[in-house]
Amino acid sequence: MSTSDDQPVYGSPETGAPENPDVPKPIPSALERPVPAKVTVPGIMARKGTGRKVLCLTAYDYPTARLVDEAGFDLILVGDSMANVVLGHASTLKISLDQIISATRAVKRAADRPLVVADMPFGTYHVSTQETVVNALRLVREGGAQAVKIEGGAARAYIVETLVEADIPVMGHVGLLPQAINSAGGYRVQGKTVESARRLLEDALALEEAGAFAIVLEGVPAAVAARITARLRIPTIGIGAGGGCDGQVLVFHDVVGLSLGPSPKFVKRYAEVADVMRQALAELREDIHAGQFPGEEHVYPAKEDIPSDWDAEL
Ligand code: KIV
Repeated sequence: MSTSDDQPVYGSPETGAPENPDVPKPIPSALERPVPAKVTVPGIMARKGTGRKVLCLTAYDYPTARLVDEAGFDLILVGDSMANVVLGHASTLKISLDQIISATRAVKRAADRPLVVADMPFGTYHVSTQETVVNALRLVREGGAQAVKIEGGAARAYIVETLVEADIPVMGHVGLLPQAINSAGGYRVQGKTVESARRLLEDALALEEAGAFAIVLEGVPAAVAARITARLRIPTIGIGAGGGCDGQVLVFHDVVGLSLGPSPKFVKRYAEVADVMRQALAELREDIHAGQFPGEEHVYPAKEDIPSDWDAEL
């Protein structure tokens, strides 16, 4: 597409460099940015006991992953929460492996420094060990994920072991398990009794023993999460589990105020981006109605004088 004979509207697809000075520079591709030291699985494990928190956020597309990377986060989780906050599903159960692979690819194009971990969707590690490995390999080979995350405790330890043997690093996830919404009868905080807290610790220890490099603790009382953190040799990443974990993870859309609807108690919103978007869209609508958009600065000049009757002979 071009506006005149020789000036493309957009920059070169190869380099992203602008060839038309009137056109704003597009977001440069990952190839053009200096490559910082990458966060690795051993790097995350080495944080244990250092007091340096592991900073994690979800992202599901290029621009948000870019922002998370720029903000200095260590790990991006391409979470199945995408089902809720991006695709509008009521639970995480509906998301497919192909959808997570596609999102992971976009995130990988944006993320230079953070470790990119992809969630294994519900149903992709539930049928057989062989199918689980095949699915995890797709996340790594097609999506570019550097690790995968699965939900569940001791009962899933054999899966962690199998994947780790296949050189696929695994992040565990215990406590409130969104994929278990049907069997649990809802989203329930775990570890609220001594018996339940002991079960959680057993689950976490089993995952550690199986080779998980880190464990998400979701929806767990702070004191229980802190104790589990102290008992493990691998980092814990908390979400709704208090400040005693080795790191924190939240859903991007919750943090910036883009998840439409109520947020869980553990979320702290740092912006109201949906309000900013609403305002922008309302202004655009008014400008179009009022004939104020597009303005002179948004239109392309002709290369020669075009007479007013240029179409008379047609
Ligand atoms: O999918 C997700 O966002 C998650 C986090 C809640 C840890 O699994």
